[in-house]
Amino acid sequence: MISKPDTMGPRTREAPDWLVRPPVHLAIIMDGNGRWAQKRHLPRVAGHRQGAQSVRRTVTACRAWGIRYLTLYAFSWENWKRSRLEVDALMHLLEDYLDREESLMIEKSIRFRAIGDRSRLPQSVLRRLEQVEASTGRGVAMDLTLALSYSGREEILAAARRMASDAIAGKIDPAAISQEDFGRYFDSSGLPPPDLLVRTSGEYRVSNFLLWQIAYTELYFTGVYWPDFGEEDLKQALLDFQERQRRFGAEGGTSAVTSGATER
Ligand code: IPE
Ligand code: IPE
Ligand code: MG
Repeated sequence: MISKPDTMGPRTREAPDWLVRPPVHLAIIMDGNGRWAQKRHLPRVAGHRQGAQSVRRTVTACRAWGIRYLTLYAFSWENWKRSRLEVDALMHLLEDYLDREESLMIEKSIRFRAIGDRSRLPQSVLRRLEQVEASTGRGVAMDLTLALSYSGREEILAAARRMASDAIAGKIDPAAISQEDFGRYFDSSGLPPPDLLVRTSGEYRVSNFLLWQIAYTELYFTGVYWPDFGEEDLKQALLDFQERQRRFGAEGGTSAVTSGATER
């Protein structure tokens, strides 16, 4: 019998029949809100508002289907370049989202946290984030991480800075630093690398998302705009993922599938 690679994760009690090998960690670049709105002659903000509904649907489905880690790219470090109007609207939507979803996250045992450059976030958003991180901190069923004001390069750089300080302070030996040691300096430390990265809206790029972490992540691109992304689209991505053969650099054939190889 072919055993399942452990990066696929165990099937949980809740998992539907078709979900044989769920990704342990699913990451999503939620793109296309603006174009969704433009197509309907609506302001971009309307697309973001609709996009928040997709977030809700996706979190609910992932929780129900037993996905252990879900990481959503909500706002990039580069997105601060956008108009004040759009940035303000996005920040308000974020606060609204936290207000509306906090109790459900607690009820569903979802632990929430944000990764990214907090120093650039408005005070009120920061306060709300910290409150929800604290109130959901005991959740054990699913980790929901929102990448906010996030840049993969900045995350790597910040980790390097912290590590360099520790080296100067004599706390670590530069010659002995491993990939795991380096990973512990990351904002996102504690999250396993994503098994599957989904990007919506038909763009084929990673836009500075989780650069260090996606070394061996499976990529899935769909033309669907984020506000239209529903359960069926998520199911398609997960079905596609479970057909992939992950090799992590090892030779092909069944050995890669049977080895239970994990990323190293
Ligand atoms: C994704 O949708 C949401 C954010 C980046 C905040 P966009 O706003 O990038 O939508 P498009 O790409 O312009 O359609
Ligand atoms: C990536 O989308 C960031 C988020 C989805 C939050 P962008 O719309 O900012 O990416 P580019 O500019 O098209 O690469
Ligand atoms: Mg975009």
